[in-house]
This record gives sequence, structure tokens and C-alpha cells, in this order.
Amino acid sequence: MSETMIQMARRAARCAEEIKKHKEIQLVSHIDADGISSGAIIAKALERAGIGYEMLFVKQLDETIVRDLADTNPELTIFTDLGSGQIGHITGYGLNAIVSDHHRPQGDMDLHLNPHLFGANGSFEISGSGTTFILANQLGNNRDLADLAIVGCVGDMQYRKYGKLVSLNREILEGNPSFIIPKTDISLYGKQTRPVFKMLQFSSDPYLPGLSGNEDACVDFLHRIGLRSSNDEKWRRWIDLTEEEKVRVTSSLLQYSVQKGISSYNINRLVSECYLLLQESEGTEMRDASEYATLLNATGRYMQAGTGMDVCMGDREEAYEDARRLLYEHRRNLVEGLNFVKDKGVIELSHLQFFDAGSSIPETIVGIVAGMSHASNNRHLPIVAFADKEDGHKVSARGTQELVNRGLNLSEAISQVCREIGGAGGGHDIAAGATVPFGKKEEFIEKLNSIIASQITGPGIDPKTDSTVR
Ligand code: C5P
Ligand code: C5P
Ligand code: ZN
Repeated sequence: MSETMIQMARRAARCAEEIKKHKEIQLVSHIDADGISSGAIIAKALERAGIGYEMLFVKQLDETIVRDLADTNPELTIFTDLGSGQIGHITGYGLNAIVSDHHRPQGDMDLHLNPHLFGANGSFEISGSGTTFILANQLGNNRDLADLAIVGCVGDMQYRKYGKLVSLNREILEGNPSFIIPKTDISLYGKQTRPVFKMLQFSSDPYLPGLSGNEDACVDFLHRIGLRSSNDEKWRRWIDLTEEEKVRVTSSLLQYSVQKGISSYNINRLVSECYLLLQESEGTEMRDASEYATLLNATGRYMQAGTGMDVCMGDREEAYEDARRLLYEHRRNLVEGLNFVKDKGVIELSHLQFFDAGSSIPETIVGIVAGMSHASNNRHLPIVAFADKEDGHKVSARGTQELVNRGLNLSEAISQVCREIGGAGGGHDIAAGATVPFGKKEEFIEKLNSIIASQITGPGIDPKTDSTVR
């Protein structure tokens, strides 16, 4: 076990001592895949320890929510996958609380479990579900929940930096091989549940010019390499192919990508590490960490996080059926969102590119759309999206590892702009978000552009053309 893991477990043990003093606990978590898995991990651990809980999912934590919570006077509140940015309000309103989070902390308190406090980076070394897994294992033996811990960090795309999970995430993965294992495979989404041609058609990361978004071209591509289902009525899923067929498709796709002049950066990303949940049935979304995470996002991002949580808690009937229906709609929304960006285009400034989705893309998924459309846009500029929200303009920003290596820190840049013009935001170096006051879009984007300009130093490699950019 690494020194960091030992130190975090020690802090978690102190948190667990506090938890054991209570009979009924208020849980508060984030509505995305990481937040839902975090919520389920702590809820299961409490259930097993015979402790009651009340669950609350929120889009983001702000002063009003903390104040409203304090008004209900809970014995103990556990915040998972959020809270570190609101330590001031949590202590200010006198909440007896534990925070298990991985966002950049603003302030500190006693029962605060966050990798940044132990010298680790919460954008790729461990996520909220990981810190909560460490906490759960101080309450009892909850190692079987390692699969949910991995679903959460995959949902937060923590494998992206190195093309695989590393550091504390890796320790959780490799320490629990009876529940979750890595497998090197094609990286496209939908290996468990989608026909192979659909998997190609909906590929957005990496984006495959000529195939992504074009059903006929994908069917043709598979025919040309001799891949047909034995009965023609239904194309097989990736998991139904033989090993030889998988190799054939993968190598043909690699060859195709080279012919199409796709960057080596994107070609390398066609094959990556995937994570299989051994306690789940093959052919279901829950078998693959990435599909599981998308299923959870499809619930939480539409204010149905309770449904996702029920799936995590083991419901494979009603909640699972509901989640699958939501997934269908979520996928449709993502396709519509991507088409919107493609049709409308992005506006490029010197140090960022942006689009305004208005009310065309729900603000809860505009960040996902921004991230996905980044693959087919200019990757040497961060992408910023606006969407309408009831209390202001929602902003979502996404960078690349290359830009982060050159100094980009979206979380800091966005926080700084918010301090100057109002609004609240935060997140990570590579991905951040905010809500800014009505009427401040132009000012926001101009200021963000100049802060990013001051962050980025030195020449970099444009992953799209593999050439040096300044
Ligand atoms: O709130 P939270 O920390 O869960 O969100 C993290 C966000 O960062 C996710 O939306 C994820 O897609 C994004 N991310 C990214 N690229 C990375 C790491 C995270 O876009 N390399
Ligand atoms: O909402 P979006 O997916 O763009 O969020 C990207 C990252 O920014 C997430 O880690 C999220 O928790 C964070 N964020 C934040 N404050 C906001 C909006 C997003 O810290 N107001
Ligand atoms: Zn998270």
C-alpha cells in the first residue's frame, strides 16, 4: 500500500469513528456518475453497519443548500464527491460534517478526506468514489464495492491522462481482482450492449472521420472486412465477436485511421484499458465501467439520481428498466447536442474556442457535449460552452492533457474570472464549470481568454496535426 493510501486510510479511520457514534446520517452527493457511485458506496457501508441514512443528490453545493441543510439540524452530514469547495460554509453554518471529495479544496476542516490534502491530484489519481471507498472500508469489510469505486473514476474520465488508471485508482483496482479487472481492448463505447456498427457510428472519442455519425459507412466498413452476423437480421455486439474478429476489426480500424490521416494521438487512443465488473452479467451496461458510468449519468443529469443509486444498490428490475429508458433519451440528447455544435460551429478566440447552446442543450449535459465535440474540433484550444440556466449562464470548459502540461488550469482561470465579475465556479485543471450572472457572457469569455493566455507557456504539439504550435 502506498504511503498516500495509508495516510488517507488513517484520516478515513477518524471519520469512521465519528460515523459510528450516530444512528441516522444525512448523505449529500453529486448528480453525476462519480457522485452516484460515491453515494451508493457510503449508503451500502452504512446499511451493513446498521446505520440509517437519508440521501440527497444536488447539482452543485452552494451556500443556500448548506444553510437549508443546517436548518434541518442533522446529527452528522457526509458529503461525497462535493464539499471541498464549500468548507467555509459547512463550518460557518456549524454543520457536523465529513467531506469525502476530490475537487480542489477551498479551506480545510478536521474530517476532510481529499487527495489534494495528501499530495495527490484529484483529477486523475482518485475520485470521489475512491475516497468514499477508503472511508467505507474503515466502517467494515466493503471491498466488494471496489467495482463502484472504479465506475466513479471512469465516469470522471480519470483514465484519460495516461490512457489507464494510475496511482490510488490503480491500487483500488489491483487490490480487488475478484471484483474488477482491467482489459486492454478497443476503446469505443458500447462493447457490451451495442451492435458493432452502432459502436462505430457513435464513436466520438476518438472521432473517426467518415465513420462517426454515418451508419451506412460503418455497415459498409464491416462488410468490406468480411464481418457479418451469421443470421443477417441482427449485427452482433463486440462481446459476441471471436477474438480473431476483434483483432481484424481493430487492425482494420487502425489502418483506416492511418489512411485518413488521423493524428497519432487519436490513433493511439483507439485501443485502451477498459474495466470489467466481474459481479455483473455479461451483455449488460453494468459489466463495463464506462457503460455503467454513462447509465448513471443518464439518470443523475436528468434529476433522477435516485434511480441510478438504486441500480448501484443492486436493483436489476424496476430501477434498471427506468435507467435504460433514461439512457436511450440521454444518448439521443447527446447526438442532438453534438449535431447542434457541428451545425452552429464554434467561435475561436486567441486562446479558447466557444459555443453558446442557449436552451438547445440542457445545462446538465452541456459539459459532456463540449468534451465529446472537442475530439472533432481544434484540440490546441480549450473548448468552452454556455447554456441557459434558471439563475444565470452555465459555463462548461474542457481542456486537453497537452494544454494542462503547458500550464492550463481551467479551475483556477474560471474561479478568477468569477471573483472578478461575480458567479461561482471551480473543478479541475482539465475540466471546470461555473454559473455566471445574466448579461456577463461576453465579459466572461474575454477575461477567461486573457487569463488562459497568461497560463499557457512554451510551444506545444497540436495533437490534430502533430505539428508544433505556439
Ligand atoms: O464534478 P466532477 O469532478 O465529477 O467532473 C469531472 C469532469 O471532468 C467530468 O465531466 C469529466 O468528463 C471531466 N474530465 C475531462 N477530462 C479528463 C478528466 C476529467 O473532461 N482528463
Ligand atoms: O458542469 P461541468 O461538467 O462542466 O463541470 C466540470 C467540473 O467543474 C466538475 O468537476 C464540476 O464539479 C465543476 N464545477 C464547479 N462549479 C460549478 C460547475 C462545475 O466546481 N458551478
Ligand atoms: Zn467526481
